[in-house]
Parts: sequence; structure tokens; C-alpha cells
Amino acid sequence: MTMLNGKVILVTGGAKGMGESHSKLFAERGATVLVTDFDPKGAAVAEAIKAAGGNSHFRALDVTSETQWRECVDWAIAEFGRIDGLVNNAGILIRKPVPEITLDDWTALFDINVKGTFLGCKHVLPAMRDTGSGSIVNVSSISGYVANMEGMSAYCATKGAIRLLTKGVAVDYAPYKIRCNSVHPGTISTPMTAEFEADPSKHQMLVGVTAMGRIGQPREVSEAVAFLLSDAASYMTGSEMTVDGGFTAV
Ligand SMILES: NC(=O)c1ccc[n+]([C@@H]2O[C@H](COP(=O)([O-])OP(=O)(O)OC[C@H]3O[C@@H](n4cnc5c(N)ncnc54)[C@H](O)[C@@H]3O)[C@@H](O)[C@H]2O)c1
Repeated sequence: MTMLNGKVILVTGGAKGMGESHSKLFAERGATVLVTDFDPKGAAVAEAIKAAGGNSHFRALDVTSETQWRECVDWAIAEFGRIDGLVNNAGILIRKPVPEITLDDWTALFDINVKGTFLGCKHVLPAMRDTGSGSIVNVSSISGYVANMEGMSAYCATKGAIRLLTKGVAVDYAPYKIRCNSVHPGTISTPMTAEFEADPSKHQMLVGVTAMGRIGQPREVSEAVAFLLSDAASYMTGSEMTVDGGFTAV
């Protein structure tokens, strides 16, 4: 079991889905978890963690706002002294064929998925450098490798960007003992994928092309992210961890 005792870990998009699952698992493994989201429901996640005996605090953070990132990192350092782990998890999915993607769609996808991840790295890296170590996990997707279903072009472009941004950060910050890896989930049961699970033909199609014959659960991804954040992953940086039930192996 991966332990995260004493680590201060900031999670974006922690109000629901995988971000909620990551936050709860990290707290179970001994971390102080800073749950952030632009959705105030994230406060309930931090409260649930505390009720279960863990350490957690909520902070409103829209990942597209550089001002909010600056204030959030200042708050974390003032209150907790350090940030050992950052999970750039917040993301959105817009699925349309290219001619139907509006510039507003494109901008929203790149603002949240790519700019949000970039701003997280930009503002947390100096704090990690000051403390002499750190681990960043950027949430890409199997859509960062392949166009896994129809209408994914713009989303794939964002997840491919995250995959390569990760390697750049990994190379630049390896000398400072800061690791940066990407995680590539397949289809995972969250509010983001509820439409696929509600539609029997889409659900059957996704299950049919996944070697393990099922959709994944958030906690199965949280375990992989926890490992990358932990000292057990001390020689891993710039790597891509795939958690897809064999989807991309087929
Ligand atoms: N669910 C999947 O099958 C799947 C597969 C591969 C990758 N992913 C990626 O995993 C991550 C989490 O996905 P999920 O399925 O849990 O999604 P979700 O929609 O269930 O949750 C996403 C969270 O991000 C938050 N968020 C959105 N925009 C934000 C912003 N501007 N600032 C702060 N928070 C914001 C939402 O409020 C929400 O709490 C995303 O990056 C997604 O692209 C999901």
C-alpha cells in the first residue's frame, strides 16, 4: 500500500469524480489534502475527509485564473509550510466533430485543461524548489495517445498537450528533485462519463473495446496517482502511467 504520511498534497477539481476520489484516498494514506475546485461543493469533500479522521482543507480555485493560483499557493505555504504534491486533475470534455467545435468550445477546453495545468505547474514549482523536492501528477487521458471515440479531436489536442508539457517540466526540474508524470485513464465512472453509462449502446461499445471488459472506478486511478506522488516512485519522472483496463493494448 502506498503511504503519503506527512505530505501536503493539492488537488484541483476535487469536488467530484476522480478529484474527490484522489482527495479521499490520499487522506486515508496520511496526507494533508488541500481540496480545490471552482465548485463550492468541494468544501463537503474536505468535511467528509475530516469526519473520517483525515486532514483536509478546501479552497476555492478556478484553475484558469492566475490570480487565484497565486493566492492559493501563498495560502498553502502560509498555512502548511510546503506543497509536496500537486495533482492537476480539473478538466472538461466537449465532444463534437471539428466543423461543429466553436471557438468558445476550443477556448474553454484549452483554458481549463491546458492553461489550468500550466498555471498549476508555474505557481507550485517555485514553492517545491524552495523546499527541495516535490511530485506533480498531470491528468492526461488515453485521449492523449489516441482518438478513442468519435468527436474527441479538440479534447485529444488538450490531453496531448498535457502529456508533453509534463515531459518538459520533468526535464527542467529533475535537477531540483521535483518529479512530474502524467496519468492516462481510460473510461472511468464519474459525472464526466455519466452520458456514456446512461446510453446502453455507447456503454456496450466502450466495454467491448476494453480488454478487461468493464469501465474503471475512480479509486483504481487514485491508487496510481498516489504511487506517483509517493517516495516509492522516486526514479519516475516524465513517464506516462496508463490506467485503462487494457483499452490501448488492444
Ligand atoms: N472520467 C473519465 O473517463 C476520464 C478519462 C480520462 C481522463 N479524465 C480526466 O480526469 C480528470 C477528472 O475527470 P472526471 O471524470 O473526474 O471529471 P468530473 O467532471 O467528474 O470532475 C471534474 C472536476 O473538475 C472541476 N473543474 C472543472 N473546471 C474547473 C475549473 N476551471 N477550475 C477548477 N475546477 C474545475 C469540476 O468542478 C469537477 O469537480 C479530467 O482532467 C478528465 O479530463 C477523465
